[in-house]
Amino acid sequence: MAFYSFRFEPGDRILIGRAEYASNWIALRQVANRTGAVIEIVPDDEHGQLDVHALEAMLDGRVKLVSLVHVPTQGGLVNPAEAVGRVTRAAGVPLLLDACQSVGQLPLDVTSLGCDILSATGRKFLRAPRGTGFLYVRRELIEELEPPFLDMHSAEWVAGGAYRMRADARRFENWETYVAGKIGLGVAADYALELGVAEIRDRDRALAERLRELLAAVPGVTLRDQGATKGAIVTFTVDGREPRAVQAALAAERINVSTTSTQSARLDLEERGIDELIRASVHYFNTDEEIERLVETVAA
Ligand SMILES: Cc1ncc(COP(=O)(O)O)c(C=O)c1O
Repeated sequence: MAFYSFRFEPGDRILIGRAEYASNWIALRQVANRTGAVIEIVPDDEHGQLDVHALEAMLDGRVKLVSLVHVPTQGGLVNPAEAVGRVTRAAGVPLLLDACQSVGQLPLDVTSLGCDILSATGRKFLRAPRGTGFLYVRRELIEELEPPFLDMHSAEWVAGGAYRMRADARRFENWETYVAGKIGLGVAADYALELGVAEIRDRDRALAERLRELLAAVPGVTLRDQGATKGAIVTFTVDGREPRAVQAALAAERINVSTTSTQSARLDLEERGIDELIRASVHYFNTDEEIERLVETVAA
C-alpha cells in the first residue's frame, strides 16, 4: 500500500538491493512498467551484502526511492540497514525497508534504522498468525502518500462530494480487517517483547552459528549464507542431492527445514548460480540437541 502510493514519473530511479524478494520485485516491475520509472540494482560488497558506498555513489536527484530487504528469504544475510538509512536520510531519499524476515528475530528501531517505511509480516520470526502484518510510515511522509485504495476508514466523505484522508498511518488500512489475526499479532508481539528481542537475537545467533559450524564439518555440505553479520536463517546445499530430497529425508526424521528456489530471489540466486537451497531457520525454542540431530541426519 505504501509503495503503490508513490507517484513515479518517467526516468525516476528506484534503487534496490540484490537480495530483493520476488513479490517486491513483481510490484516494482509492475509500477516501473506503468510509470516509466527505472529500477537499478545496487551491487553487493565483498561480503555479499548491499554495498553502501556503491549506493551512495548512485544517489542523485532522480532517485525517488530505495528499497531494501533487511533479511532475505534466501539466507543468513543481514543487510546493513542502519548504514543504508544514514546514506538515504542524508540524501533525502525515502528508504523502504522490508523487515518481514527480521521482525521477531532482530531488534528493530525505525529511528536508528533510518527507514521511512517499514513493512513486516506476522507469520515468520514473530510467530503470529498467518495473514497478519504491519506497516510503519514516517509521520512526515504520510501526508505525501495517497494510498491506491481508500474507504471510509482511511478517509472521510465530506460535504460536497469530496473526501479527506486520515492524517495518520491508518490511511493505509481498510475498514474491514482480520480482527482475530490482529489480536494474535498483538499477543505475539507482547510475547516477543517479554522474552526480549535482544535476547532472542543473541540466542538465535548462537544456535545458527553452532549449526553453521557443525554443517561446515560435514563432507559434501556447502554453506550458502552471505553477509558480514549473519542471522537465524541457515542455508546450505549437499553435493549430489537435490535440496528437496534432503528436505524430504529430514522430514522423515521429523526435522522441518524448507527450500528456497531462484523464483523467490532471482537477482541474487541466479548471480550465484544456485537453483535451490535448503533453509533451516532456527529460533529461540530450538535446542542444541535438535541442531545436532539435524546435522547427524544430513551427514547420514
Ligand atoms: C523478504 C521477504 N519479504 C516479504 C515476504 C512476504 O511475507 P508475507 O507473504 O507474509 O507478506 C517474505 C516471505 O517469504 C520475505 O521473505
